[in-house]
Amino acid sequence: MTDVLHTRAELAAAVGGTNRRAFVPTMGALHAGHAELIKRARELVGVDGQVVVSVFVNPLQFNQAADLATYPVTPDADLALVAAAGGDVVWAPGVVDVYPPGEPVVSPDPGPLGEELEGASRPGHFLGVLTVVHRLLKWVQPQFAVFGEKDFQQLVLVRRLVAQLELPCVIEAVPIVRDRDGLALSSRNSRLSMTDRELALAIPRALRAGAAAVGNAVDVVAVARAVLTGLDVDYVECRSVELDVAAAVGPARLLLAAVVGGVRLIDNAPVLLSEKS
Ligand code: PAF
Repeated sequence: MTDVLHTRAELAAAVGGTNRRAFVPTMGALHAGHAELIKRARELVGVDGQVVVSVFVNPLQFNQAADLATYPVTPDADLALVAAAGGDVVWAPGVVDVYPPGEPVVSPDPGPLGEELEGASRPGHFLGVLTVVHRLLKWVQPQFAVFGEKDFQQLVLVRRLVAQLELPCVIEAVPIVRDRDGLALSSRNSRLSMTDRELALAIPRALRAGAAAVGNAVDVVAVARAVLTGLDVDYVECRSVELDVAAAVGPARLLLAAVVGGVRLIDNAPVLLSEKS
C-alpha cells in the first residue's frame, strides 16, 4: 500500500526506517513518463528500499500566475499511478510546509545557465526549481533522486546543485518517454487541441532530423529549424552535454522550445556532431 503524507513531521516519521531510499520529485499530474521515474527509483533501491514521490506544485518556479493557476491537479489519479509503479510514499506538502510563512526564502543561485535557454523566457524559473529541490532533498534524505531527461536543463542544474553543495545523493537520469506519435510526454500536453497536437509533432520530427544531420552544432540547428517552419519557436540550440558551448565534434544535446496553441513545449535529444566529409 502507498502511504499519503502531508506534513514535514509525517515525512520525517516515514523516512526513519531505512537509508536505502530513492526519491522522485514531481508536481503531480503524473503520466507514463513519471511512472518510468518511479520504476527506476524502485530498481535502484530494490524491494526492501523505500521509494518516496513528492507532489508539490512549486509556486516559486512559475513566472506567470496564469500558468500556476491552470496547472493540472489530479490527486486521485496520481496516487493510483504511484501505487501501480511501485512507490511506497506520496508526500504532498502544502506551501506552508515547504516555505514556512514569515521566513525569508534563501535560495541556491543557478548561475548564468539559469538565465539561458528556458531561463531566458522564464526569469526566476530555475531559482525556484533549485530552491525547492534543495529543500526536498534535505527533508527526504534520499540516497538517489530520479529526474527525467525531458527537462534537460533542470537535470544539469540539479546535478550542479548536488555536486557544488556536496549533497549526499546520486542523481539518476531517465530518458524521455514519448507517445506513439513521437511527442514527448508532458503534463502540459493535455492542454493541446487535436489540431495543435498535429502541429506539435514537428518538434520530435525536428529533433530526429537534427540528430540525423551531419556536421557541427550550427549545421544541426539549421536542419532542425527548417522542420519547425510555421511554429512559434522560442529557441533551437545545440550545446555540450553539460550545456556549455558544443565542441566541433562529439556528443552534444539539441534542445528546443516552441509555443503551440498557447502551450509552451520543450524537448531535446542527444546528437553526435561530426566533420562534414
Ligand atoms: O520537474 C518537475 O516536475 C519540477 O520542476 C520539480 C523537479 C518537481 C521541482 O518542482
